[in-house]
Amino acid sequence: MKFSFFTETTPPLIGMDISSTSVKMVELSGDGRGGYKLEGYSISPLAKDAISDGNVSDLEKVVDAVKLCWKLLGSREKRTALALPTSAVISKKVIMAGDLREEDMEVQVEAEANQYIPFSLDEVNIDFQILGPAPNSPDEVEVLIVAARKEKIEDRVASAEGAGLKVSVVDVESYATEAAYTLVAGQLPNAGREQTVMIVDVGATMTHVNVLHDNNPVYAREQNFGGGQLTQEIQRRFGLSQEEAEIAKRKGGLPESYESEVLQPFVQLLAMEVARALQFFTSSTQYNRVDHIVLAGGCASIAEIDVSVQDRTQVNTIVANPFHSMAVGSRVRQQQAIIDAPALLIACGLAMRGVGV
Ligand SMILES: Nc1ncnc2c1ncn2[C@@H]1O[C@H](COP(=O)(O)OP(=O)(O)OP(=O)(O)O)[C@@H](O)[C@H]1O
Ligand SMILES: [Mg+2]
Repeated sequence: MKFSFFTETTPPLIGMDISSTSVKMVELSGDGRGGYKLEGYSISPLAKDAISDGNVSDLEKVVDAVKLCWKLLGSREKRTALALPTSAVISKKVIMAGDLREEDMEVQVEAEANQYIPFSLDEVNIDFQILGPAPNSPDEVEVLIVAARKEKIEDRVASAEGAGLKVSVVDVESYATEAAYTLVAGQLPNAGREQTVMIVDVGATMTHVNVLHDNNPVYAREQNFGGGQLTQEIQRRFGLSQEEAEIAKRKGGLPESYESEVLQPFVQLLAMEVARALQFFTSSTQYNRVDHIVLAGGCASIAEIDVSVQDRTQVNTIVANPFHSMAVGSRVRQQQAIIDAPALLIACGLAMRGVGV
């Protein structure tokens, strides 16, 4: 297995997102016309505490969830692309001479990495990518160096291998989100060009905020907020277990008071959280406005959430659907796919690594 943030061409792969509450898989293929086809996807819940703070803390439980997820996916493909949490990697842009040979560049990358990585170099895997000519200096190049603890990579790889799968690519969650964003941009006017777009991924425990300007990443941040709060409130109010609350949340069947007394207050909190993210961004960067908000993550599946966020922020708001312009295979239940799509952004960005369209 290679630590390979930047590998360009790879065989068909299953994108696998191992997050705090579930394992999610997406399988894509080329549609023969330069676009993607969604072959299948699956989601299997993870036992509480199987992953904590982005680390695998109960390998056996994670392996079980990966096995179930692969079975639900109904694929024969065993090669996967997976991602490390953004917080588990250190990345840095450096400037180097433009005419270095490959070997010399590797040596210099190691020397640079040695300076800012707080671990011994044999505990980490390093990868780098030349981004392009250095700004204001045509003889030099800008290089992105990414490093991660071997131990963090090995834990994730073991989760896949324990389930009989192979790992072909190890990526970073925020890069996978950015890759999948290229699909979502098509939902925006002028495909997001020359505009400032804030992607807000509201998961179970965390809210990940990524901002792109003219389709280039300019800002990333995390806030402690997620749908787990709503699940807990449902458990408390209606005396349900966590599993029951999760099911009720998605499938309905809760008493009439749920809508006004539990769901609406949560939706208002979520809208406030997005408004806060917006304020943090505009007050700490050179940008003084955002043109569009794109909601992703499981909480973006709450009905009319985009309307509430737009009311609160006064910014045009949409729900991410990375599948919106894709052909869809016969294994996919289309109605359900539209509901699940916003939570599948990372898995989708990872699956894209295996399809050269
Ligand atoms: N249809 C739905 N309606 C309401 N909430 C939903 C729906 N589907 C998923 N959720 C909620 O979204 C959350 C899970 O979202 P997601 O899969 O994006 O989280 P995660 O990636 O596991 O979390 P994190 O990013 O914090 O690790 C859960 O709280 C879940 O209850
Ligand atoms: Mg997530």
